[in-house]
Amino acid sequence: MGKRKFSCFEVILIVLFLMVSTVAVVLIALMATAEDVIKDDEVPEVPKDFVPQCPIIALGERIDCYPDAGASQRSCSSRGCCWQPLNETYVPWCFFPTNHGYQVMSEPSYGKAQLKRLPSPSLFGADIEELTFQAERQTPNRFRFKITDAHKKRFEVPHEHVKPNNTDDKLNYEFVLVKNPFGLRLRRKSSGKVLFDTTIGPLVFADQYLQLSAKLPSSNIYGLGEHVHQQFRHDTNWKTWPIFARDAFPNGGTHNLYGAYTFFLCLEDASGKSFGVFLMNSNAMEVTIQPAPAVTYRTIGGVLDFYILLGDTPEGVVQEYLELIGRPVIPPYWALGFQLSRWGYESLDEVKRTVERNREIGLPYDVQYTDIDYMEDKKDFTYDAVKFRDLPQFADYLHAHGQKYILILDPAVATSPRVNGPYASYDRGTKKNAWVTESDGKTPLLGEVWPGETVFPDYTNPACIEWWADEYERFYKEVKHDALWIDMNEVANFKKGSTKGCAINNLNYPPFTPNILDGLMYSKTLCMDAKQTWGKHYDVHSLYGYSMVLATEVALKRAFGNKRTLMLTRSSFPGAGKYSGHWLGDNAANWNDIKWAIPGMLEFGLFGIPYIGADICGFFDDPTEELCRRWMQVGAFYPFSRNHNAQYYKPQDPAFFGADSLLVNSSKHYLNIRYTLLPYLYTLFYKAHVRGDTVVRSLMHEFYNDSTTWTVDRQFLWGPYLLITPVLDPGVDRIRAYITDAVWYDYETEERLTSRKQHVEMFSLRTN
Ligand code: GLC
Repeated sequence: MGKRKFSCFEVILIVLFLMVSTVAVVLIALMATAEDVIKDDEVPEVPKDFVPQCPIIALGERIDCYPDAGASQRSCSSRGCCWQPLNETYVPWCFFPTNHGYQVMSEPSYGKAQLKRLPSPSLFGADIEELTFQAERQTPNRFRFKITDAHKKRFEVPHEHVKPNNTDDKLNYEFVLVKNPFGLRLRRKSSGKVLFDTTIGPLVFADQYLQLSAKLPSSNIYGLGEHVHQQFRHDTNWKTWPIFARDAFPNGGTHNLYGAYTFFLCLEDASGKSFGVFLMNSNAMEVTIQPAPAVTYRTIGGVLDFYILLGDTPEGVVQEYLELIGRPVIPPYWALGFQLSRWGYESLDEVKRTVERNREIGLPYDVQYTDIDYMEDKKDFTYDAVKFRDLPQFADYLHAHGQKYILILDPAVATSPRVNGPYASYDRGTKKNAWVTESDGKTPLLGEVWPGETVFPDYTNPACIEWWADEYERFYKEVKHDALWIDMNEVANFKKGSTKGCAINNLNYPPFTPNILDGLMYSKTLCMDAKQTWGKHYDVHSLYGYSMVLATEVALKRAFGNKRTLMLTRSSFPGAGKYSGHWLGDNAANWNDIKWAIPGMLEFGLFGIPYIGADICGFFDDPTEELCRRWMQVGAFYPFSRNHNAQYYKPQDPAFFGADSLLVNSSKHYLNIRYTLLPYLYTLFYKAHVRGDTVVRSLMHEFYNDSTTWTVDRQFLWGPYLLITPVLDPGVDRIRAYITDAVWYDYETEERLTSRKQHVEMFSLRTN
């Protein structure tokens, strides 16, 4: 096989050397539609003598009083808000006066307060008159406050890892309770800086509408998810991000996606001092970011349970956050190898042909997948005895070459019998009442997914966990494999709500629907009045994937015992990283998606799922050779490095492009660099696991004193020392890269870079 020389520039690699006294420490870097069913009589009367006190404030500080559609002077004043139209599309014309909200009635003990609603008009009805506020000094760097109904229990996330905590140690923050209207300010003691100031807006607390705003000290805001953020640092120009688990395409829209993340990090200034804000709430919500800078949370259920986490650096904040929600699992070493997958392998023979052609070209390649194609009629815990006849031995076939096998399982379980008899997995689940039910709490809710009509396991039900683990163990004994990929767990349903549709009530059609995709709560999922053990689907919807992860962990333990394995989940919630990795979902083969994967990866680093990557070469559509080659190059540096493709598209495994192709040679080159550096990558996962460090991280985490790094999101670091600067545009062989103020070396030439703290044009001399 002839080797081809490269004239064009590929990914550019750099190495940083640091001399510490006599010991040389090698630090490596690499470039390289809803109906409103609230009845009129439920809307409280506008208090007769209510006069809104409209503040004179900067436009960027207006808190929107009309987040729903239909603002007019009349509708605005019926909410007791201020109406000031402008020639500006984003700035709210209808905004809150200063006399909406609550006031503190009493403070029975430190950090505890009773709140009473100020007489003011209601936005969406069912306001709760009396609330309790409770502050907790959890650790010197972690402050929690919770606001809930003073008299009635409300839904709270039954988190597996987060536990109450109190410290008597010296605190790095102080909090000030503001009494009328109620608000709080959290201040960093060392600098006196106010980090979180809720007095910018009112507290609104109704049964199905909870709102809190906070002014922040800086616009360096990162996080919230799961979305496609085309840039890592948030745009503070009135952007509203919905949060509600959803099976949708990550195509650059501002809609909600698979996971639910309320966490954001705020870099205060060039000192590196940073803090994080986490709202423990799983209800559908939206978060608006505005120029003040400020954030506004609008959630339609649960409680307001905020954690504010202080750090001396962005890394420090992530460490503090991951200590709270659970630090990430270390993937087995083999899972750091390159992986091949596709949906649409016609048979096991086709899978083997793919495996063999990629082995033949000497591709560094450790893991092969089978998608739903392996199943009999797409049924979980079955395999196609004709097209995938030898599947039980497939793992042996791979193991003989030191490779591993991962297969997929979906939550939805078919109700139809198998080709040759009953579908025992379904029948056993039914006997155990393992399914999510309709609102009557008895009738299993029916929907439709890949296999046709299905039920949906209620992973919050211990009997269901037992069923899932048992089915998995049986299947594992039948079809040996090394790890598990769980998908469609938002939970996805091809029918709206159920095969019967959904009833008209306040759960399926809440008075306010956040800015979610389709504007319909049960679009592509279950009816919100469906029942699970943890509660109504309305409350627990975004926890479906998380509960499936917890159940699957039980199942994996059952099958694998202490042997290490891997879990990959599509839907996730804070804490899922303790057990699972994630991929960025159903992207497409285009030059946007290759770019947007970088902010996506950086964000999942903040969220505690460092085992992250995007489908290399794109899931939908056929990539051009150039795009796929560039994607193989940058993907060689995804912590989770998998080329995956959708049904009906052309194969895109490297060998398909030809043994001598540029794509193959270049993929091998960069994957070989990856493999050379696996001990470093593995060490980073170890540090993530024991300390909560990020693995892939932004330059901002290391060079926060250089404000240029705050917006760099077309380059990324592995830990502190390896900088990856990939080519992400067509027809380009030179790229503009930012070089920070440190000693950097080109990884491939070992030449020391002369530039510092500037943008440079980069290219590399390819040598294989
Ligand atoms: C979903 C997954 C995708 C998978 C497909 C078929 O779209 O996100 O990765 O290939 O289902 O199982």
